[in-house]
Amino acid sequence: MHYARLSLLTLALLSIGFGSAHAAPFATDAAADAQAATWVRQMTLDEKIQLVHGAGMGVSPVGGASYIPGIPRLGIPALASADSAGGVGGLNVPDSKATQFPAPLALAASWNPELAHAYGRQIALELRALGFGEGLGGGIDLAREPRNGRTFEYMGEDPVLAGLLSAARTRGTQEQNVIATVKHFAANDQETKRFTSNSIIDERTLRELSLLPFEIAVKDGGVGNVMCSYNLLNGIKACQNPYLLTDTLKNEWGFKGTVQSDWIAAVNDTVPAVMAGLDEEEPGSSDDNAVIYGVHSHFNQWLKAAVQSGQVPMSRLDDMVARKLRTLVKFGIVANPPKAGGTIDVSAARALAQKVAEQSMVLLKNHQAALPLDPGAAQTIVLIGGHADVGVMAGGGSGGSGVQSSGAAPSANNPVACLEPKSSIGDMHMMTGCATYFTSSPLAAFKARAPKANISYVDGHDAAAAANAAAKADVAIVFATQWTSEDMDLPSLALPNAKTDPANQSYDQEALIRAVAAKSKRTIVVLENGSAVTMPWLTQVSAVLDAWYPGMEGGPALARVLFGDVNPSGKLPLTFPKAETDLPQKQISTTSLDVVYKEGLQMGYRWYDARKIEPLFAFGYGLSYTRFAYSGIKSHTDAQGRVTVSFTLKNTGDRAGAEVAQVYAALPASAGEPPKRLVGWKKVELAAGLAQRIDIDIAPQRLAIWNVHTHQWQLPAGRYGFEVGGSSRAVEPLLTETRLTGSML
Ligand code: BGC
Repeated sequence: MHYARLSLLTLALLSIGFGSAHAAPFATDAAADAQAATWVRQMTLDEKIQLVHGAGMGVSPVGGASYIPGIPRLGIPALASADSAGGVGGLNVPDSKATQFPAPLALAASWNPELAHAYGRQIALELRALGFGEGLGGGIDLAREPRNGRTFEYMGEDPVLAGLLSAARTRGTQEQNVIATVKHFAANDQETKRFTSNSIIDERTLRELSLLPFEIAVKDGGVGNVMCSYNLLNGIKACQNPYLLTDTLKNEWGFKGTVQSDWIAAVNDTVPAVMAGLDEEEPGSSDDNAVIYGVHSHFNQWLKAAVQSGQVPMSRLDDMVARKLRTLVKFGIVANPPKAGGTIDVSAARALAQKVAEQSMVLLKNHQAALPLDPGAAQTIVLIGGHADVGVMAGGGSGGSGVQSSGAAPSANNPVACLEPKSSIGDMHMMTGCATYFTSSPLAAFKARAPKANISYVDGHDAAAAANAAAKADVAIVFATQWTSEDMDLPSLALPNAKTDPANQSYDQEALIRAVAAKSKRTIVVLENGSAVTMPWLTQVSAVLDAWYPGMEGGPALARVLFGDVNPSGKLPLTFPKAETDLPQKQISTTSLDVVYKEGLQMGYRWYDARKIEPLFAFGYGLSYTRFAYSGIKSHTDAQGRVTVSFTLKNTGDRAGAEVAQVYAALPASAGEPPKRLVGWKKVELAAGLAQRIDIDIAPQRLAIWNVHTHQWQLPAGRYGFEVGGSSRAVEPLLTETRLTGSML
């Protein structure tokens, strides 16, 4: 994606924190390979084994999820890794002072690659300051199943959106001498029975959808680390799957980095894993014979024995080691090893966290311009529920807030007590079911922004009391939360209540919204959510703003959007269905281990388009406080088959705003594809009344299908339609078409 112009905002973002970074340049591939080969020749068998597994849980001197000790006699530095989905954290970096950004799903809703780059960069600076050379952020499994509890850690349902944003984030991270990770490879699309479920997917669907974001992250982003997943893919554990790890990732895509296992139970057999292409086992241990969390590790004594007996050739072990070493050299970790005890530029980081939150919020409904609120008015505003007096919600598990909350009592890290402090979730009961909140109070932020208004808070527990307060106010803002986590799936997309989420909800959120809306002049709903939400109450409220998990600066960001300092510009990275009965997978089975991708290519919006199902809110949808008009579409095809779609975008409203102009392609009928796919977009800022001509280049790869006979990408011959608009279901999309002769790619 290229921006039509670099906005002042973008320039400001890119310059945040530059002064503090002194990154070493990337080594050339040749230099990295040569250094790795020299070291491999000098290493003993034990030293090689040491580099292909983590040293175990809790061993790292700087905390984090993994630690591989260095080899000082050769000048090879140790490597510590930490979870970093939305900020350095996870379960093992307590109280680190690291910045927690809006969740990756929110980043995806910004549709802004420059912002993704800045996000990856800042998290890398903080990883280094805390002593980590590798970040485990970067989940890009597709939101095939929106009830997946990790949807918030991923980047939505479209492979190109997820892939290109991940590539930008990866570059931002690796440019700071930190290895980036993409995970969980592959088709790890729900958490129920996560260690044993078997994703059954046909080859074309796998290539065009589940694997495509990873292919883009490898080829365009140059990612150094790929974490394989817990689940089985077509009957074989992903981390022991040769088609996935060797044939596709390494041989076909040319991946030169390390394949790292997911933690706990991703590997169940040493030799098949190594020979399938797994390069590093995590978290590893000092003794493969010990049972930790119910499982063995394999890449210490057992791997050594397999090498000594010849079951694993030394050349394969050397390849595993060389991959790790060349990655350390290539991305400057050897030249510039991270040191714990560094400083984090907290104000720059917080400013970026706030920008991401502001750009990611999606305005879903705004009846009769209920928003923005007037910050200068002497009005009465009541905030209701969602703990909006003290904080904003974060997701759970390793990609969550950085705090694993037992939630017994409020703390500085989590201002909200859990209702069932001992509740645990998942098969292994390793995680608590307690939500964490960041201390970023919407109430305080709103009061600061609108000092003439009378702003108060009532909790939502007593719907009648909340409705009475709403009746007396000019505006009622209900904060509705949907907590999700690793190791669980949502029972439903309805807003959770005391029955469906007893650890975190004491009341029925839907009933609260209805009760408030019945009495209030103007009801605004703010969602803090990790996935799609169904809204049977939608017609009763005036406005809905989706804030996702908005990170540590969520309160101020909400104030700036609701009071109109920031014009919302986020667009949905996943479809919101009207009802769960509209989903391709009607329910997540708790008995069958087979997860059959019966919908094939009709994943995400492709399903709703192909089946002519009206979604509640379509993929790519999002309103603004201004209006945009599209006109004058043209397409041009060059000799290489590269299509450029151009059009004029005009801000026809009365305030500045940013629009995500999206291009969707309809492939020739003979291709057998769903009606449309996203092939490009640009996020453009325009002052009121201004128009701009926009060109969007579409590489042939974006129009390709996977040929299951030749096992190659193919550009089908025939007539291509292009549709341009502000959503995948724009009311008046612009249409154009072109003919392509077709070819193998
Ligand atoms: C998760 C990974 C995470 C790892 C280390 C696993 O359970 O699936 O995403 O990086 O734990 O915390």
